[in-house]
Amino acid sequence: MTFASDSRLPWWRNAVCYQIYVRSFADGDGDGIGDIAGITSRLDYLEGLNVDALWLTPFYRSPQADHGYDVADYRDVDPLFGTLADFDEMLAGAHDRGLKVIVDLVPNHTSAEHAWFQEALAAGRGSRARDRYKFSDGRGPDGSEPPNNWQSIFGGSAWTRVDDGQWYLHLFDSSQPDLNWDDPEVGDEFESILRFWLDRGVDGFRVDVAHGLFKASGLPDVAGFGPGGETLDATMSQWDRPYWDQPGVHDVYRRWRKVLDSYPGDRMMIGEAWVGSPESMARYVRPDEMHQVFNFHWLSTPFSAPALRQVIDETYAAVGPVGASPTWVLSNHDVVRTVTHYGGGDLGLSRAKASMLTMLALPGSAYVYQGEELGLPQVDVAPEDRQDPTWLRGGGVGRDGCRVPLPWSGSEPPFGFSPGGPGEVRTWLPQPEWFREYTVEHQSRDPYSTLGFLRYAVARRRGLVGGLSGSIEMLERRDDVVAFRRAGVDGAPGLICVVNCGTTDHVVDDLGAPVVLSAALAEGTGQLLPNSAAWFLA
Ligand code: NOJ
Repeated sequence: MTFASDSRLPWWRNAVCYQIYVRSFADGDGDGIGDIAGITSRLDYLEGLNVDALWLTPFYRSPQADHGYDVADYRDVDPLFGTLADFDEMLAGAHDRGLKVIVDLVPNHTSAEHAWFQEALAAGRGSRARDRYKFSDGRGPDGSEPPNNWQSIFGGSAWTRVDDGQWYLHLFDSSQPDLNWDDPEVGDEFESILRFWLDRGVDGFRVDVAHGLFKASGLPDVAGFGPGGETLDATMSQWDRPYWDQPGVHDVYRRWRKVLDSYPGDRMMIGEAWVGSPESMARYVRPDEMHQVFNFHWLSTPFSAPALRQVIDETYAAVGPVGASPTWVLSNHDVVRTVTHYGGGDLGLSRAKASMLTMLALPGSAYVYQGEELGLPQVDVAPEDRQDPTWLRGGGVGRDGCRVPLPWSGSEPPFGFSPGGPGEVRTWLPQPEWFREYTVEHQSRDPYSTLGFLRYAVARRRGLVGGLSGSIEMLERRDDVVAFRRAGVDGAPGLICVVNCGTTDHVVDDLGAPVVLSAALAEGTGQLLPNSAAWFLA
């Protein structure tokens, strides 16, 4: 398990990247929705977190049916979030502070309000404009049944019928028509979009639904679905679908890689590629394709030593053969917050901190979702306040609960998220009263708060990472304990990370190594408490 890990390598190989869900990070103009000016006003906070990079979720012109993942104009900022000038100011401020900025690219689908889709609707069947999307005639004598049995990820059929009787494909919401990547104009357009943002100075892209751009030719039925989309074969892998991971995607990323490489600086792209096997994942990060892919295995894993060991092994199995750097993702805007995922309350918080510490000790890059540094639990959003299309289409529990605007200060909503005082502003999702215990202001007073702990952990990591090898050696400990060591390079000390997933204390005295950081060692006893982790110099 060896990966290069020294400070001369490109920044993204060892970065801590903080994900900003723009709607919910900070509101500069007082409308209750986060925006670019809000980010600019909080750059000092971000610098103080000691992270290396920011990833901004989509802020482009959009009707916001999927909160920005439905883009109507890829080259402009939605007025809800500000202007291109606001973006440039934010980017310059981030760069002044040494922070890299990654923006989100949404190539699988546009918004139904995109000029191309409007043109396709108006131009009618058989037109050039319809070639840019996946339009098709329906089945049945009068074409009144969808072209195949594909289901939207957000629930219901993946096909919607238009006035002239044709159907269009949308793997997500009906307001997010899928593009046709077999049409060369689509590829040319996205190259031009990449260049637009690279010219503005962005450091990279997070590529949405990177595994979905191409669909199997002939648009065959999913074998395990019935005609109405009902699952007939429960044993079938959810990744074995004619719309995921088709070979054509790789040429797209090879093309983009050439574009990125032609710009100065280490511009990068990281793919959201949900695929079924380590081998498939590795294909996205071959040396001439993407720089990284999100490794989502960690976020769905229970807090158990065998499970964590398995994730670590599988991650290395995936990226090792192609020499890519691993990534670790504990949460994002699509999943239940970590504290809640791990059982909630003090137990969930202890495990979340331990898991974060483990992720930060591993070689590669860690992606941290906003609010995780505060230990925010999932919010139980009332049905009448829900806004997520997955909830509205009946396709899931909804993702609103991890997207509630951050609590910055004060003791009442909007908790400093918006400039207005209590009662003056309604945030786009209501904040619960109990957020008062979690504000940045509240936690900043206490170095032992979750925020204090993570700031310190990320700072220590930054100090150590340049001197650590990219290899890990798993250490033999109890079955319910995960432990690994990274050797030091060029005379620097190495690092041992021990995670106690068991129910009893674990003796760590025998390591004979000084503690760097712990969450938590029982004072003076050399015992690592259950549901906690610690770092040692070694
Ligand atoms: C993945 C994004 O993370 C999610 O929020 C979005 O709904 C889908 N892609 C569709 O773009």
